[in-house]
Amino acid sequence: MDRREQFPIGAAVTVDELSETPYGVLDRLRLHEPVSWLPELNAWWVTRRDLARSAMTDAETFTVDDDRFTTARILGTSMLNLDGAEHERHRRAFNAPFRPKFVRETLEARIASSARRLWDETISGSGDVRTGLAGPLAVETILDLMGLDDVEPTEVLSWYAAFGEAITALTVGNALPPTIDETLTRLMSYVEGAMSAGNPGVITDLVTDQVLGREEIPAAVAVVLFGAIETSEAMTANAFWHLLTHPNAWNRLHVDRSLIDQAINESLRLEPAATWVDRYTTRDVDLGGVVIPSGELVSISLLAANRDPTVFANPEYFDLDRPNLAQHVTFAKGPHACLGLHVARAETHAAIAAALDWEVESGQALALDEGRTAKPRGLIFRRPEHVHLRVGGRSD
Ligand code: HEM
Repeated sequence: MDRREQFPIGAAVTVDELSETPYGVLDRLRLHEPVSWLPELNAWWVTRRDLARSAMTDAETFTVDDDRFTTARILGTSMLNLDGAEHERHRRAFNAPFRPKFVRETLEARIASSARRLWDETISGSGDVRTGLAGPLAVETILDLMGLDDVEPTEVLSWYAAFGEAITALTVGNALPPTIDETLTRLMSYVEGAMSAGNPGVITDLVTDQVLGREEIPAAVAVVLFGAIETSEAMTANAFWHLLTHPNAWNRLHVDRSLIDQAINESLRLEPAATWVDRYTTRDVDLGGVVIPSGELVSISLLAANRDPTVFANPEYFDLDRPNLAQHVTFAKGPHACLGLHVARAETHAAIAAALDWEVESGQALALDEGRTAKPRGLIFRRPEHVHLRVGGRSD
């Protein structure tokens, strides 16, 4: 018997269920088949936190260096699809601007002022946090950090959309859409432009530091740029959704702003913007008692790991006082753990602070406009379609 047939829960999982109502099935998988075969996704799935962690931290056995990864086929070689010393070199090139000290001392104030301006321009009490604040803040922040001064945010979003279409095309076995070449040429021309102009920012630092060859820089920049958009937007939207569906927690932030970080972590735990990470096995490996053959796709469910009841008591509850809420694996673990996590945290923090400040200054309370807000959903990226705010009516 093919060992893939030994997983009845995995066999019944559908993409629709994972997108719309994933928690129940992930609980069943974690309890009965923590390493399972999901025919619908043609991948092994890991749902227990300890096993997820082991796989993410063992890059020799669970590699990203595989030609089947679509990002590499579209953008070329970058830290995303390298392991070992070459990965370390590519990542080192970006270390400085993403360190907590640099984010705290140099970026936080800039991000806070963008968040407040966007809040005043697009929401000020009523509007959609995702499209009006979270999305534009993510794009502005990463363009500013890179030194891509001349690029319009709408243009970046069109590049990102073309990139997403290309990934989807390759994933379902179609040819690359013709628009992707034009898109990448345009993106690369802006990166080349920033390199030549010496705009202050990451791109100029990369040229100066020479850790990467000049020809390696465009793909490297594209990966960081694209990694920063949908994820951060979703992270901020999810945090507002969690906080405003728990008005007591929102009220507590007014009393103690240091709780914002806890709120962000608890929201990250409950709804990781990127729900899983993929690896390929480099050898036959026993994970949790299941032997996964060499060369197979293994998907590590961050969503499931973050709700592991052996680590997080009553994992389905949003609990600001949870003692171990920072133990989520939303930014992954191991060598490929998210490079941009401190920048992303600063964005979500700034967006929440802008809304709290506005409440204090205006003397009005914000609430969710329930009719125009949806709960987080999505297969790979999870977020609410809209988090629409209105003034008034929040219970304490
Ligand atoms: C400024 C925002 C962000 C930037 C610039 C960024 C950039 C990156 C980059 C370059 C990597 C690859 C690291 C490597 O391979 O060594 C990465 C990994 C990752 N990022 Fe982020 N990211 C951002 C925000 C986020 C957010 C908000 C989330 C989720 C809430 C997230 C989740 C992840 C995950 C799960 C990985 C691991 C991918 C894997 O192991 O396959 N990122 N990020």
